[in-house]
Amino acid sequence: MDRLFGWFRNKKPPGGEPILGENVPKHVAIIMDGNGRWARSHGMPRIAGHRAGMKNVKTITMAANDLGVKALTLYAFSTENWKRPQEEVDFLMKLPQEFFPLEIDELKANNVRIRMMGEREGLPEHTLRAVDAAIEDTKHNTGLILNFALNYGSRRELLLGMRRFAEEVKSGERDPDDLTEATFGGYLQSEGLPELDLLIRTSGEVRISNFMLWQLAYTELWFTDVYWPEFSEEHFYEAIRSYQGRARRYGKL
Ligand code: IPE
Ligand code: IPE
Ligand code: MG
Repeated sequence: MDRLFGWFRNKKPPGGEPILGENVPKHVAIIMDGNGRWARSHGMPRIAGHRAGMKNVKTITMAANDLGVKALTLYAFSTENWKRPQEEVDFLMKLPQEFFPLEIDELKANNVRIRMMGEREGLPEHTLRAVDAAIEDTKHNTGLILNFALNYGSRRELLLGMRRFAEEVKSGERDPDDLTEATFGGYLQSEGLPELDLLIRTSGEVRISNFMLWQLAYTELWFTDVYWPEFSEEHFYEAIRSYQGRARRYGKL
């Protein structure tokens, strides 16, 4: 009983925190979903959910950094999200210029390095300016890589990679045999990042939504009903603990 009350008091799920330094995933990706439904459930407009979701980015980034995660990729805007009402798209495109000035000092103090994947083409100038400034500002940092997937779609990423390789073959720079499972990663927007160990999706949807299709081949998956603005450090630890308890067999026995 005492332990149960202790749990409520600390608001930590049973089982404690993940084991530091032991089998911590190198690369975690999150499909940050459910902002709109979270706002609705609180009687607010969808954009209020996006702002709350933005605030949660720092919380989870710091938790990942403290655990020793090397790279955290966050799905912020998909190539399909352009189909949303213009007003919502405009709001989302302004979030980087709100987020970075607010959080950059703390990110820097924690040695976090910002990176982006997705197509620059199509993104507004002001969005790119905010992201580029943060990338420039943190380029010497050696801690957690915080990788924002912005105007990202995995099919697009794969096509662009294949097209680039085809161009190199055409120009005689490469031979078709040069394309292997190892070298193909170099043609993708996740180039240089560690293998993706763990994917988390919030909000109860159980799908991939055009996210990192190649990289996910042997990634461990974690789905939760919690909406992104309410996805706390404790929820994050729960996913990490689950990961730590899994046997990754890669087809072997
Ligand atoms: C995720 O929340 C954020 C983005 C896709 C930009 P949603 O906006 O998809 O929220 P729901 O899924 O409609 O609740
Ligand atoms: C995926 O969420 C994209 C992001 C979180 C940025 P969506 O809400 O756009 O995905 P669907 O439409 O439910 O598949
Ligand atoms: Mg959604």
